[in-house]
Amino acid sequence: MRPFPPPSPEELDPVERVSRDELMALQLERLRWTLSHAYDNVPLYRRKFDEHGVHPADCRSLDDLALFPFTTKEDLRESYPFGMFAVPRERVARIHASSGTTGRPTVVGYTQGDLDVWAQVMARSIRASGGRPGDVVHVAYGYGLFTGGLGAHYGAERLGCTVVPVSGGMTARQVQLITDFRPRVIMVTPSYLLALLDEFAAQGLDPRESSLEIGIFGAEPWTERMRAEIEERFDLHAVDIYGLSEVMGPGVANECVETKDGLHVWEDHFYPETVDPFTGQPAPEGGELVFTSLTKEAMPVVRYRTRDLTRLLPGTARPAFRRMEKVTGRTDDMIILRGVNVFPTQIEELVLRVPALSPHFQLHLTRPDRLDVLTVRVEARPGAGGREEAGRELRHAVKANVGVSVEVEVVDPETLERSVGKLKRVVDRRHD
Ligand code: DLL
Repeated sequence: MRPFPPPSPEELDPVERVSRDELMALQLERLRWTLSHAYDNVPLYRRKFDEHGVHPADCRSLDDLALFPFTTKEDLRESYPFGMFAVPRERVARIHASSGTTGRPTVVGYTQGDLDVWAQVMARSIRASGGRPGDVVHVAYGYGLFTGGLGAHYGAERLGCTVVPVSGGMTARQVQLITDFRPRVIMVTPSYLLALLDEFAAQGLDPRESSLEIGIFGAEPWTERMRAEIEERFDLHAVDIYGLSEVMGPGVANECVETKDGLHVWEDHFYPETVDPFTGQPAPEGGELVFTSLTKEAMPVVRYRTRDLTRLLPGTARPAFRRMEKVTGRTDDMIILRGVNVFPTQIEELVLRVPALSPHFQLHLTRPDRLDVLTVRVEARPGAGGREEAGRELRHAVKANVGVSVEVEVVDPETLERSVGKLKRVVDRRHD
């Protein structure tokens, strides 16, 4: 795999080249507009600001944002379906919604102007990943209410690419289309990419020989070890893309392929903070990521609690824009096992260190005798022997690195369920 040259300055959006001070001045102006827009047009924001004793006019510097109350997923659910909209419904050009594992889905809306900004930040993200006008882009994120497919689609079109809107599923056909259309870029969840990898093998094809040079992976957590695994097996550059529907969709932050050192947050449109997930106090050393939209018309969000855990760092490849570290987990997929916090990504790192184990694994939580038991069910790598030893190795590695005892079951290849979109890593059977 060849190292990637950075883009030339003329290729960047003009704002990607401004100084930090210029960017912050733009942010303050946009933040003040957003706070007024939310307060004037969304009853929920007016009520919450009033209860909190703050008014948009109190925001005189970026730090003053901390005076304002948080917005949570519950606020959005309460306002179902259209209560968070700050414009008349007729001005809303598109709706997306999260499936919501429990209860009502969360609905988000976009004006034509919002869709334009979204396409811009997605085009910027694809370019930061190494994509260029004229590339063939295979989009295997799901199309529909999920923001992945359409978000990637309009961004790739905006950049000037040839888009192949495959969506998720029909794995054998995806491999055929990749072989025939020769895309340079693929956009897909990392877990579904693994399913595609297996399908290449099943069809007797070498993925390293495919036309793919760049993979833009997101919508779920994935680790540096997984990056190494994918880059090695596919011979492509694996780049991280982050976003969430409530804030926009994919394209809120993206890694730059030339540095692969965390994701630059597109701060001209999305203002990030990190707070302590328990107290809500600012946590500059890292914590729960909180976003305020700066330009959104249809559904501005003020200090939205993402539940994603990360740390903000200064910019590198785009010096004015702060980076966020790869998201290692969410406050709500943390497993507390006999008092120890366990994130699925920690297990992923360790699984991938054992050569006889494949990256396909699930975490099963049970409660046989009032005590929680975590079982890692992991597929053996095809053709690899020494399963018992591999299982033992993983058990020891988890004990040594995470500090808890787990059970490990090494199962046959191709026996665990594959995801076509976002992967569900944890199967909770504690209350069965
Ligand atoms: O997953 C948007 C998206 C689509 C992002 C395609 C990237 C690529 P939601 O369905 O609203 O939106 O889910 C958002 O997914 O809060 C994170 O927990 C998780 N997530 C998204 N990207 C990443 C990532 C889309 N790169 C939720 N790393 C977020 C880790 C991610 N987690």
